[in-house]
Amino acid sequence: PYMGLIAVVLAAGQGTRMKSDLPKVLHRAAGRSLLDWALAAVAAIRPDRVLVVVGHEAEKVVATLPDWAEPVLQADQLGTGHAVSTALLRMPPESEDTVLITYGDMPLVGSRLFERTVAGLPGKAGVMVTFAMDNPSGYGRVLRRADGGVARVVEEKDASAAERLVSEVNAGVYAFPARPLRAALSTIAAANAQGEYYLPDVLSILMEGGSQVVTVEADPTEVLGVNSQDQLAEVEAQLRRRINQRWQEAGVWMQDPDRTYIDDGVELAAGVRLYPGVHLEGDTVVGEGAVLGPDVFALDSSIGPGARVWYSVLRSARVGPEAEVGPYASLRPGTVLEARAKAGTFVEMKNTVVGEGAKVPHLAYMGDATVGARANVGAGTITCNYDGYEKHQTVIGEDAFIGSDTMLVAPVVIGEKAVTGAGSVITRDVEPGALAVERAEQAQISGYAARREQRHRARAPKEPVEESPEAPD
Ligand code: UD1
Ligand code: CA
Repeated sequence: PYMGLIAVVLAAGQGTRMKSDLPKVLHRAAGRSLLDWALAAVAAIRPDRVLVVVGHEAEKVVATLPDWAEPVLQADQLGTGHAVSTALLRMPPESEDTVLITYGDMPLVGSRLFERTVAGLPGKAGVMVTFAMDNPSGYGRVLRRADGGVARVVEEKDASAAERLVSEVNAGVYAFPARPLRAALSTIAAANAQGEYYLPDVLSILMEGGSQVVTVEADPTEVLGVNSQDQLAEVEAQLRRRINQRWQEAGVWMQDPDRTYIDDGVELAAGVRLYPGVHLEGDTVVGEGAVLGPDVFALDSSIGPGARVWYSVLRSARVGPEAEVGPYASLRPGTVLEARAKAGTFVEMKNTVVGEGAKVPHLAYMGDATVGARANVGAGTITCNYDGYEKHQTVIGEDAFIGSDTMLVAPVVIGEKAVTGAGSVITRDVEPGALAVERAEQAQISGYAARREQRHRARAPKEPVEESPEAPD
C-alpha cells in the first residue's frame, strides 16, 4: 500500500524561558521566524501533509503560516506527547503513513537530517535524532541499555545526578509509523516533574513489540533548540554565518562577515562589496559592484549596480545605478534615486524621485518632490510639504539650480533651468529659465563696527586698570 509522509511541527508552547510576550516560535532570526525556518526545511522533503500544532497565541502563529501548512489547535499545552496525539486526530486511525515530528524551535535543522530520519524507519519501531553536547543542560538525556540500544529519554528535571552526566541528548526530531505511535501515545502518563505528557515516553512502549528505536546522530550545530534569549542569539549567529558564506561563494566581498547582517530573502549580485555594519533586511536587492557601508541599514530597498551607500538608512527606497547615498542620509519610503543621482550628507528624503544625475548633496529635506534630471539642490534646502493638514507636491524641473537654504513652500513648481536665490522662501511657481529671489535688499552701513565699540566703551563702568607696557590704550 502507498505510505505517505506526514510532518508534524510542534509550535504550541509559550516559551516561558524567553521571558517575552511573543510566542517563542515567532521570534525572528536572520529575517524569518523560528517556525518559518523549521517549515522551510520540512517543505524541502515534500511531505504529503504538514500539520503545525499551535496553542499559545494560536491566532498570531496561524496568521504567519503558509497555505500548505495545516494548523492543529492544542488548546491546553499538556506536553509534547499530547501535542502529537492532538495532531494525529487529523489523520485516519488506520493510517499506515510515516509521521515525521520536529519541534518549531529548531531553526537550524536542514532537510537532509529529516531525510536521514525518515530513511532509517523501515523495519524499526522508530527513529530518534540525538547529538552529543559538552554541556547537555536543558535537554532530555538519552539512556541506553547494556547492549547499546536506546532504552528511554529522561528529561533534565526528572533526571538523577548520574543521568544528568549523560552527554547524548534528544534533538526533538523523530520518525514513527502512525498507527503504533497513536496507540503508544494513548497509554503514556504525565507522572513526571513537569506533569506533562512527554513524547519520548512512547519509545519504550513502541519497543515492546520487539523491534527497536534506532538513533540518527546529528551535528550539534544543526539541532540547537531555542529556549532562551542567548540561545536565540547563538542560532541567529549560525544562520548568519551560513547566509554570509553562501554570498561569499557567490562572489560577494565582506570585510568582516561577523559584522555583516544579511537576512534570508535578500538578493546580492556578484562583486557587491560590504563593509562592516551593513544590515540588509526584507526584500532588499543589491546590484553588481555596489559598495555598501560602513554602517548601512536597508529594508525592502533596491540598490543599483555600482551604487555607493555609506552610514545611511534606507527604507522602501530605490537607489539607481551608480547613485550615491550618504554619509548620514535617510531615505524613507517612496524615495527613488535615478542613475548617478546623489543624496548626500545629512539629507532626508521621502516620497521623492530624484532624476538622473541630479544632486542633493548636503543638509536638505525633500518630501513629496520630483527633482528633474541634472538639477542641483543647494545645502539647507527644504520642501515645506506639510501645511499642518495635508501634504503637497514640489516639482523641480530639469537642470534647475536651487540656491542654498531655499524654502520651497508646496505646492510649487520650479521650471526647467530656473534658479532660486539663496535663502529665498519660494511660494509661487517659477517659470523655466527664470531667477526667483525672495529676500530683503542687502543694506551696508560703513564704519559700523568702530561706532559700536565706542558706544560700548562709553557705557562700561570705569575700572582702575593696572598699568602694563602691553596694555592697550
Ligand atoms: C524537548 C524534549 C527534550 C529534548 C528537547 C530538544 C520532550 C518532553 N522533551 O524538551 O527531550 O532534548 O526538546 O530541544 O519532548 N510544544 C507543544 N505543545 C506542548 C509542549 C511543547 O507544541 O504541549 C512544542 C513547543 O512549542 C516547542 C516544542 O514542542 O516548539 C518543544 O517543547 P519545549 O517545551 O521547548 O521542550 P524542551 O523542554 O525543550
Ligand atoms: Ca525546546
